[in-house]
Amino acid sequence: MDKFVIKGGKRLSGKVEISGAKNAAVAILPAVLLADSPCIIDNVPDISDVNAIFTVLRQLGATVNKLNRTTYEIDPSGVRSYVVTKEMSQSMRASSYFLGALLGRMRRAKVAPPGGCDIGLRPIDQHIKGFEALGARVTIEGGLVDARAEKLGGCSVYLDVVSVGATINIMLAAARARGMTVIENAAREPHVVDLANFLNSMGADIMGAGTSVIKIRGVEHLKGTEYSIIPDQIEAGTYMVAAAATKGDVTICNVTPKHLESIIAKLKETGVTVEEGDDWVRVVMKKRPGKCNIKTMPHPGFPTDMQPQFATLLAISNGTSIVTEGVWDNRFRYADQLTFMGADIQVDGKSAVITGVEKLKAAAVKSNDLRAGAAMIIAGLIAEGVTEIEDIEYIDRGYEQVVEKFTQLGANIKRVPVLDAPTIKIAN
Ligand code: EPU
Repeated sequence: MDKFVIKGGKRLSGKVEISGAKNAAVAILPAVLLADSPCIIDNVPDISDVNAIFTVLRQLGATVNKLNRTTYEIDPSGVRSYVVTKEMSQSMRASSYFLGALLGRMRRAKVAPPGGCDIGLRPIDQHIKGFEALGARVTIEGGLVDARAEKLGGCSVYLDVVSVGATINIMLAAARARGMTVIENAAREPHVVDLANFLNSMGADIMGAGTSVIKIRGVEHLKGTEYSIIPDQIEAGTYMVAAAATKGDVTICNVTPKHLESIIAKLKETGVTVEEGDDWVRVVMKKRPGKCNIKTMPHPGFPTDMQPQFATLLAISNGTSIVTEGVWDNRFRYADQLTFMGADIQVDGKSAVITGVEKLKAAAVKSNDLRAGAAMIIAGLIAEGVTEIEDIEYIDRGYEQVVEKFTQLGANIKRVPVLDAPTIKIAN
């Protein structure tokens, strides 16, 4: 097991290249199962959640070949199994997408319930409601969610909560159903649109992705295609906030600025200068950030997956900010860790009151989940002294080459084995 050791106090500067979006990749790669022939997928991020998906695809009988650093050819034609056990899926959240994809392909799927970061209850009732409306019978057998259908037929589903996962899973199962499926109150996240674009490039007939009503006219067959995954808006947002928090000057390349609108708006509110190009944004900050209130909401609202990182910026702001979590029940577990570092955060239910302090101090902290871990890195970068972050396997789920990328921007960050910790020395 490793940890990160960060010597804080460096201004970040230079350029960083953003990888393909985790939350699009973990939907698109299982969606390949719906094709009759091989797909070539580009801009695939090298992160542990994606590697876990490849493991499952191979165990189901697909062939996965790496063509270059970010491009894979996946041939699903040999897939005969519809079972994904807990051991196979390694407790990742996105294992649930194998339910929709296998149900669409084979009319049967037995998949371990999804795991993922502990950020509150993670039910799948809306996914199941969609599968049942399509004609599947869903039971829990031997700890696996078992969905089976003789045939899948178009239907109308209204989602009681705006759910990315349910929207994606219903699209997967409906793409090869007979007739038209309508998802109302659908999620509008960029990765939902990316999956629809991918399925359409395989021959699906999906309209309205990116709005709250998605219409899927089922087709009999989907064919192999070549597709490039969109850039990761949350990875981009994380580097943007890190640049602002260290009073840096960083150009974030390979991004879709439109996907970053809410993050850009909030950064500007704290006094950050943001320039935008076609596929880059530049973040420049010269002073202590100002206060700003945020409330997380489904897209196009401020993303919950940026809440811990942004709260870390507000922890050193000049004033008092209120952060309200509107998506998950339990996304303030990182607040204790920031408090160890000198932050002043009072959490009450779904809100946190953050009174900015001038400086954070280094401490030994842990990464409670993926985005909490990203927040700890930002805190370590701005703190005085040497911060150590444990449980970094969460961070590896979603950030490709995080040490290399921050190092390239001038940060002093190392990955070291936990046992070697007391002897580690960091160069200035
Ligand atoms: N919900 C239900 N029933 C359901 C599904 C969801 O009540 O059947 C509730 C959840 O409890 C939650 C809300 O609806 O309160 C939204 O959940 P959603 O289904 O949208 O979340 P998800 O699909 O499990 C994805 C991302 C998360 C991100 C959320 C919200 C993936 C693999 N994960 O999760 O990403 O926070 O959407 O945008 O796409 C992350 O990347 O760090 C991460 C946690």
